[in-house]
Amino acid sequence: MRAFIFDLDGIIVDTAKYHFKSWRIISKNFGFELLETQNELLKGLSREESLERILSWAEISIDEFERKKCLEKKNELYKGFINNLSQMDILPGVIKLINFAALKGIPIALGSASKNAHQILKKLGIENKFKVIIDGNSTSKSKPHPEVFLKGAQILGINPEQVIVFEDSIAGVNAANKAKMVSVGICKGGKIENARFNFNSLDDIPLEFFENLI
Ligand code: BG6
Ligand code: MG
Repeated sequence: MRAFIFDLDGIIVDTAKYHFKSWRIISKNFGFELLETQNELLKGLSREESLERILSWAEISIDEFERKKCLEKKNELYKGFINNLSQMDILPGVIKLINFAALKGIPIALGSASKNAHQILKKLGIENKFKVIIDGNSTSKSKPHPEVFLKGAQILGINPEQVIVFEDSIAGVNAANKAKMVSVGICKGGKIENARFNFNSLDDIPLEFFENLI
């Protein structure tokens, strides 16, 4: 194994809950109640793709103008929720893994669908730890398409088969698998379907796990 690619929302910071909160508010405006099980299917998807799913579940059709307004409103709500993020919000195990990678000379990249990724990493104070950042502004295809991870590996100059991807979403795990990378699913009290390995949190991964893979 020669590189790590981290997803952002739900892996580095617990912002997945704020995406859900924001989409629930938007959905309510359509008179639709977004369920947690449905939200699991939204994780990892781009903002636009998420709205398309919600509209199809709600069986509602709106025009381009309204779509744009919804996307803006969702992001406004979301940005309100993440406004006070700080170093304190970095999830357990993240710093340990970053330090381990540095010690072993393993480069790390970010592979996220979010267009807010740079801002969030800045708030957390760890933007400079990532050699490469691929986010929603540098991709055109939403996970489960492997574009985001393949781009990361390509810029790092590492063969995809030698990359470990940390993901909390079904779409993201499928994207990593399609890229032929080693998918590590992170899911508290459960498992992510199709993930090659599963752990409750990043903090639960013993460093020997990586020693064995390396
Ligand atoms: C992903 C989240 O990381 O980013 C999705 O899992 C979200 O829920 C997507 O829709 C896009 O994020 P943003 O910040 O550009 O709206
Ligand atoms: Mg995620």
